[in-house]
Amino acid sequence: MPVNIIDGRQLSDLLIEEMAQEVKVRMAQGHQQPGLAVVLVGEDPASTIYVRNKIRCAEKAGLFSVVTRLDETCTQQELEDVVNELNERDDIHGILVQLPLPEHLSEERIINLIKPSKDVDGFHPVNVGLLSSGQATLIPCTPLGCLEILKREMGDLSGKHAVVVGRSNIVGKPMANLLLQANCTVSIVHSKTIDAAALCRQADILVAAVGVAELVDDNWVKPGAVVIDVGINATEIDGKRKLVGDVNFENVAGKCRAITPVPGGVGPMTIACLIKNTLVAAKQN
Ligand code: GUN
Repeated sequence: MPVNIIDGRQLSDLLIEEMAQEVKVRMAQGHQQPGLAVVLVGEDPASTIYVRNKIRCAEKAGLFSVVTRLDETCTQQELEDVVNELNERDDIHGILVQLPLPEHLSEERIINLIKPSKDVDGFHPVNVGLLSSGQATLIPCTPLGCLEILKREMGDLSGKHAVVVGRSNIVGKPMANLLLQANCTVSIVHSKTIDAAALCRQADILVAAVGVAELVDDNWVKPGAVVIDVGINATEIDGKRKLVGDVNFENVAGKCRAITPVPGGVGPMTIACLIKNTLVAAKQN
């Protein structure tokens, strides 16, 4: 059976177009324009590109957006002042502070400071708790995008064995929770797992979110599995810079039923889900 290479860009464009229509209709009905604020500290090249893409898509969807850029050397207090001000603004419904932050700043304190109702990343402990008890409204964007891809590819996920590689707060843990709520049997593989490959070979759904370039090879994959690659790793091959995922695409594509490429798979879906969360936050307001 030929492998299906899942086009995350096409699906994201479709969702953004649908949301742009929804925003237009709501504004015509007299609702306020949804507003997204993104905060970027420093000039990390990858973060700068991610933020630019997020804002570009937000504008495509008809959202109002603001970007606050702070110097790499800013203090915790300066960053907290920015978040406090955004928390109070009536025209801002979603706040995202791009991670990672420079070493001297506390990510935990910043995440905990964002109003849960404006936490479009879904990282605040209140939103984490709501997700794990099945009551979530704001769900972390990357796992939400992965779930959307899986539902479109497979339909009902009930009873499938899903293996998540990685246990980060941003992807691995919320992904496992979402798959559990979709009635999958869920395993989480991490750096201390004994024989990760053997566990992964049992997966109907394999989500790789560990940040190790091409860790998942074809001997980790059951024939006919659906493979979602969340990794974005910068590598140099023959002197050329190249982005690769956590999955060895060439080898695994020959074995699985469907796979997301890097780039052009999960990344664009993360942004579509950020916009979705901003609409949810604006409607809740
Ligand atoms: N850095 C990498 N992924 C993310 C994300 O989903 N949200 C934020 N805020 N920062 C990130």
